[in-house]
Amino acid sequence: MYKQLEERGMKSPPINISMLNKMKEAQEPIACLTAYDASFAKLVDTAEIDLVLVGDSLGMVIQGHDTTVPVTVDDVVYHTKIVSAQLKRSFLVADLPFMSYSSPEQALDNAVRLMQEGGAMMVKLEGGYNQLSVVECLAKHDIPVCAHLGLKPQSVHKIGGFKVQGRDKDKVSKMVEEATTLQDAGADIVLLECIPNEAGKLITQSLSVPVIGIGAGPFVDGQILVIYDILGITLGPTPKFVRNFLSDSDSILSALKNYRDSVKKGLYPSSENCFS
Ligand code: KIV
Repeated sequence: MYKQLEERGMKSPPINISMLNKMKEAQEPIACLTAYDASFAKLVDTAEIDLVLVGDSLGMVIQGHDTTVPVTVDDVVYHTKIVSAQLKRSFLVADLPFMSYSSPEQALDNAVRLMQEGGAMMVKLEGGYNQLSVVECLAKHDIPVCAHLGLKPQSVHKIGGFKVQGRDKDKVSKMVEEATTLQDAGADIVLLECIPNEAGKLITQSLSVPVIGIGAGPFVDGQILVIYDILGITLGPTPKFVRNFLSDSDSILSALKNYRDSVKKGLYPSSENCFS
């Protein structure tokens, strides 16, 4: 094992799901970023980002769409394959795009593509109670799953915009129950997007699996951002939870390291990046 790592020129072993669980236990924040191409994948790996997501946000930041809805499984497989070829250490998650998991059978076929063709180690899907049978089916086949709650961008046309979720007590209670039920159904990670700090805290305390947040406050187990956002390349208005890490760095690599260190030391997010 260690000889193999030396041969791969690595100081520390590749991240796996049990290491992410141990980080939660040890209260070591998990630093995560998206990546979609070879150059950035190599940089995020070098910066020792723990988890890399090939997100369907590629529909917006790479393809220039207004939403993630037009992204296809072929698109995600294509980008995942490119990213996985560059990663030595980071744990790789790929998104199941809109309507690619409308039944357990369809989810299974597409998750297998993301893992076999793309090289993903885990798949992510958006949903709560409505996705329980899908999560159960994937878990039954030992496919690691990340369940995405809070703001679900694939539902943007149903929600009526990219809005903060869980601002009232009943909705927070429902989200806590959904997160727990998803964990019981086999979800290995829960990702929370755009919810108030207190909701992020409550869900994180209720779960034994790692909880990663984007705009979910400082009390979750890890943070994720879209790589272009932390480099100041945001198409349209910059979301509140985004911080530009390039402005104080002299290279892209040091910006990524700065992001990682800020997450690990609890310096990101600060109150200006959070919702109440
Ligand atoms: O698609 C994506 O990049 C995501 C992040 C916003 C977490 O789901």
